[in-house]
Amino acid sequence: MLHLDALSKQFGGLPALSDVTFRVPQGQITALIGPNGAGKSTLINCITGVLTPTRGSISLGLQEISTQPSHAISRLGVARTFQNLKLFERLSVLDNVLAGLNNEAGSSLIMALLRLPYLRHRERQLKLRALEALDRFGLADKADWPAGVMAYGDKKRLELARATVSQPQLILLDEPVAGLNATETLAVEQQLRRLRQEGQTLLLVEHDMELVMGLADQVVVLDSGCVIAWGTPDEVQRNPRVLEAYLGSVEATA
Ligand SMILES: Nc1ncnc2c1ncn2[C@@H]1O[C@H](COP(=O)(O)OP(=O)(O)OP(=O)(O)O)[C@@H](O)[C@H]1O
Ligand SMILES: [Mg+2]
Repeated sequence: MLHLDALSKQFGGLPALSDVTFRVPQGQITALIGPNGAGKSTLINCITGVLTPTRGSISLGLQEISTQPSHAISRLGVARTFQNLKLFERLSVLDNVLAGLNNEAGSSLIMALLRLPYLRHRERQLKLRALEALDRFGLADKADWPAGVMAYGDKKRLELARATVSQPQLILLDEPVAGLNATETLAVEQQLRRLRQEGQTLLLVEHDMELVMGLADQVVVLDSGCVIAWGTPDEVQRNPRVLEAYLGSVEATA
């Protein structure tokens, strides 16, 4: 599905990603883990075209996307959530999810907003899909709320609803359970399992090791911008380089 080949990104000459190579197979959950500052969010930003890689290639299926702008990559069916929530706080919860259908709505949504009668039907269809997505994440009763007034856990789920509503080819999740309590984390875990059952392909960045090791089909470990391990959760957990990277980072922050 997604293939990264020798991907590198530098910020002012400092490497944030160095020769990152791995694959994200279709229909699986691939977890991307690593200590703070390892380059995980930078990688997601490169895949989504928010950042332009310094070198290397990113292919989605057979298509090279590393030089494409973010709107083009989104149109190819790559959706994401953000480590720091990026919601339209003043818009309603429903409108935030509708924004996730922007690619399909295109100008028809704008025309629908102008109330051209023959487009009313299309508008209703999109709204129904957005409501279904909200329902699935337990947010349907808050559809009319301004997104900004919701609790943090609900905002995290709203981001998931927005990222998944268009049934994209590939969903990139940057720390979807960060800051959530145990019950909320379990609910998100069940949602991610359900998405995989439905055939969705996920790249999951997460620090919650229990979640990652219980859920992921394969795990890629980044440390200082380099892939230091790549395998099943079991293989990765037993890898001495991984233990060293994590213990090293514990020592460094102690
Ligand atoms: N826009 C930027 N300009 C300069 N340096 C950046 C920029 N974005 C990230 N970096 C640097 O790149 C490195 C990787 O950062 P990144 O945010 O990708 O790490 P991360 O693995 O997502 O960490 P965390 O687990 O804390 O979210 C860090 O050293 C960071 O300071
Ligand atoms: Mg990050």
